[in-house]
Amino acid sequence: MSSAVMTLSPFSQAGVVDDDVIAMVMAASRDPVVRGHSYLVQALDEKGALAYCQGHDGVVVRYDGTPLVAVIVYRELPPLAGLAVPAGSVELDAWALAPARGKGLFGKQGGWPLVAAWLSQRFDHALSVVFSDNEPGQAHARSIGGTWIGRTYLPSRDIPGFRDGEVDVYVHELARYRPSQGTSP
Ligand SMILES: CC(C)(COP(=O)(O)OP(=O)(O)OC[C@H]1O[C@@H](n2cnc3c(N)ncnc32)[C@H](O)[C@@H]1OP(=O)(O)O)[C@@H](O)C(=O)NCCC(=O)NCCS
Repeated sequence: MSSAVMTLSPFSQAGVVDDDVIAMVMAASRDPVVRGHSYLVQALDEKGALAYCQGHDGVVVRYDGTPLVAVIVYRELPPLAGLAVPAGSVELDAWALAPARGKGLFGKQGGWPLVAAWLSQRFDHALSVVFSDNEPGQAHARSIGGTWIGRTYLPSRDIPGFRDGEVDVYVHELARYRPSQGTSP
């Protein structure tokens, strides 16, 4: 559990992206663990990170002001052959910076409830599509309450360096995170 004060801020506000968010995205884009398991493109420079943030629907979780976790929403789902995906689902991409990983910062007692509450204002369901060999990603998706709906093959996408492979898919029911529901996982 994190004792830090956690806040969310969007990647960009009216096209303006904070310098620390640009630095975070640049660092993550050079991290092979993030690169191997997410849609983030490789080795962004400052201009590329700015464009990435302006062009994606994302938020960062700040811990005592420092951005360490990013969550990106994709409204267009990849082909998930054979799986019964709830209508209106969006896909989440998510990563934590290397020094922050494995410390509970994005877990159910960390930043996830805050992110889920933000998502719940906009969507009913969100998917974690996690490579089957990504053990931390799988553990994280289960731990935050995702329901496993199956395993399928994710074809390569039009993202430089993005690999194809087997994925496990988890559904997050967001309604329970709406402030009016007053509950957590
Ligand atoms: C997946 C990821 C976002 C998790 O963030 P994190 O801040 O490291 O996760 P936390 O430390 O908050 O842990 C959350 C849960 O996941 C589990 N977990 C995290 N890392 C783990 C690991 N290496 N092995 C096993 N379980 C792990 C924790 O045990 C915890 O569960 P618990 O609360 O029930 O104990 C992070 O590992 C990451 O950035 N990975 C690279 C990108 C990626 O794989 N993204 C997911 C696919 S989109």
